[in-house]
Amino acid sequence: MKRHHPAIRQTVRLLLMLIFLLSFSGSLARAAGSGASVWGADYFPNVPLVTQEGKTVRFFDDLIKGKVVAINFIYTSCPDACALETARLREVQKILGSRVGSDVFIYSITIDPEHDTPRVLRRYAEKFQVGPGWLFLTGKEADITLLRKKLGLYTEENRDEKLGEHSLSNIIGNQGTGQWIKGSPYENPYIMASKLGSWLHNWKLPPESKRSYADAPAVRTISKGEELFRSRCASCHTIGAEHSGGPQLRPIGPDLMGVTRKRDGKWLSRWLAEPDRMLQEKDPLALSLLAQFDYVPMPNLRLAPADIRDLFDFMEEESHRIEHHQHGGHQHGEHEHQHEDHRQ
Ligand code: HEC
Repeated sequence: MKRHHPAIRQTVRLLLMLIFLLSFSGSLARAAGSGASVWGADYFPNVPLVTQEGKTVRFFDDLIKGKVVAINFIYTSCPDACALETARLREVQKILGSRVGSDVFIYSITIDPEHDTPRVLRRYAEKFQVGPGWLFLTGKEADITLLRKKLGLYTEENRDEKLGEHSLSNIIGNQGTGQWIKGSPYENPYIMASKLGSWLHNWKLPPESKRSYADAPAVRTISKGEELFRSRCASCHTIGAEHSGGPQLRPIGPDLMGVTRKRDGKWLSRWLAEPDRMLQEKDPLALSLLAQFDYVPMPNLRLAPADIRDLFDFMEEESHRIEHHQHGGHQHGEHEHQHEDHRQ
């Protein structure tokens, strides 16, 4: 057996190490965002998609290249998670104001392109009053599946059983720097807005809108019911006027001031548990509310009985607190109510 000279072996080892170091520093430089991003045109498919206005755009070139974006996947007939997601993104849009469409872009892509034509998507966008810079997109099913896979938002689902769980995530990112973060389903919109508006811009741009995440309610210990309400309900509902967000947007659902007194307890707890079923069964009250609120159906939020009790308590206490507040702290309760009722 022929043995290599030790000096040759040494040289080979040094060379290998050098090659390793060079390739390592190369990828580091790329990761640091030196122009060529880690996930670029060679990673993201440049598939064509059609907007709610019927315009064809390319995913990479037109939608994400060099941009800060939020992307989620929805379908308009979704009975549960999608509407909550859309309502939350609408709050993010409200917080970021005119920056949406200039340096932050929002894309909601349907996973049900057969049903969700541009026309259906436009109607959906109108119901949620989305502003410029937020596109609703449809396309070929295979292309959309590919995008979901590339964005890490694809889950094998049984279309009939668990379709609703598909979209419990969104992704936000800056294509230019290669920073991408998955969002959590119930994330506070102020936090999401600050990630999109500041963090992903490397804090280079000050928030243009006066409403920043600093206006978010102060952190304090909150009840289970309040926590549920904030994360599952507050994007669509207010309790009392003081919570209403901005004059320009009408709320998606009814104000819930005093609702636990106004409605029959049984009706209300069933409504919170399975509003989709009640709408299907054409419950008269549910249908009349649906018509009043531009046919946005209240989503089924998969609440457990204990959640519903906690929410009842919160809605009741909060209504009480606000009444007390509005009436200067001395007059509240039945008396004041009768007063209001007489006037109507
Ligand atoms: C995507 C928006 C959305 C979300 C999220 C949502 N709702 Fe609703 N809710 C509605 C709409 C819209 C209506 C009106 C009925 C309809 O259109 O189906 C409604 C109706 C109601 C009503 C009936 C009001 C009345 O006058 O009787 C109650 C109570 C209610 N929602 C409570 C909740 C609670 C509690 C949560 C959170 C666990 C919640 N909603 C989450 C949109 C939403």
